[in-house]
Amino acid sequence: MEEVSTWIAPPPLHIGNVQLAGNVLLAPIAGYCDVSFRLVARSCGGVALACTDLLCPEGVLRENKRSMELAATCPEDSPLSMQLYGADPQRLCDAAKWAADHGANIIDINMGCPVDKITKRDGGSALLCNIPRTLDMAQRVVRAVPHIPVTAKVRLGWDDHRLVAPFLANRLEQVGIAAVTVHGRTTEMRFHGTVRLDGIAAVVAAVDKIPIIGNGDIRTAQDAKQMINVTGCAGVMIGRAALAAPWVLRDVQTYLQTGVLLPPPTIQQKCQYMRDHFYNMIRFRNQRVAILEFRKRVSWYAKHMNPCRLLRDAMRVIDSVEDFEAAVDNFLAWRAQWDLANPHFSDTSANTDESEHLAA
Ligand SMILES: Cc1cc2nc3c(=O)[nH]c(=O)nc-3n(C[C@H](O)[C@H](O)[C@H](O)COP(=O)(O)O)c2cc1C
Repeated sequence: MEEVSTWIAPPPLHIGNVQLAGNVLLAPIAGYCDVSFRLVARSCGGVALACTDLLCPEGVLRENKRSMELAATCPEDSPLSMQLYGADPQRLCDAAKWAADHGANIIDINMGCPVDKITKRDGGSALLCNIPRTLDMAQRVVRAVPHIPVTAKVRLGWDDHRLVAPFLANRLEQVGIAAVTVHGRTTEMRFHGTVRLDGIAAVVAAVDKIPIIGNGDIRTAQDAKQMINVTGCAGVMIGRAALAAPWVLRDVQTYLQTGVLLPPPTIQQKCQYMRDHFYNMIRFRNQRVAILEFRKRVSWYAKHMNPCRLLRDAMRVIDSVEDFEAAVDNFLAWRAQWDLANPHFSDTSANTDESEHLAA
């Protein structure tokens, strides 16, 4: 750890006309980072900005049910970026205006999604393959919402032969994009391999003033600090680690600011986050969705609650709010006894294999 006395805290992020309180952003994770979860992460602290999952412009403009669920927000869910994908400039401009009217403080254009369904329609990381068209579209979106910053989220390039992110970020800045987030992998890598800090550093070096936000594989406060030290990025974005530990953004922000590593929340606090999440789902969706979702979602929370087999097993078969409450209460009662008998046990041994849960 660096000496706390010589600690240099990064200045809080400034994106266009939006001043953020810190340097740590919650990533969009389609199917996971909806308003119910974002509110939990925000309540833990350290979230300078959160983002919706990627939104389909057509769905948003027609206000179809699924798109409205994905775009749902509330006053506490602020500041918020709404992420749009697609390749049709006019639709994107119209959807950006819709987002600006429905709670977005920032509009983000997805230029990194590797999923076939998106790239085959020229959206997501397919935008990395036709830079003139992408720049034209970005500029039109910037002009469509002049009072709101527009940002882009990119990967390093489609593959190792086309590492376009530095050039693209430089040109995006020239057309008015206010910040660029870089996931330090190529499209071809999907989520394999390790994140490339040198690739993110090349993007930082390629722009003039706009903040570059580094993203990929941050699990701890030290990972975030290392990304900033090595790449010079102005902020970091965290995705998968937050699904298991929504308090990780608080840990990272505190560490970046002060050099202090916070202790993890108690098991009671972790259960309270889970409860809040469950009741948020009832508030924003409905009871049935919350129950079905939490049968799976418990696996994420369980990563930082070991030993917790009792909780996992009970939660996988819940069928009512009462079942949910009983699962949590029984687990906490059992854990209180277990913790008394095992006073030196630390539950930091998280299972880091996220793929099994994301596939679920
Ligand atoms: C299941 C899943 C869904 C994702 N959905 C989105 C999305 O909607 N928009 C986006 O820009 N990135 C999306 N991402 C990418 C993340 O935002 C992030 O860039 C990536 O997971 C790397 O960061 P991490 O290692 O902190 O998770 C998704 C990633 C996963 C695993």
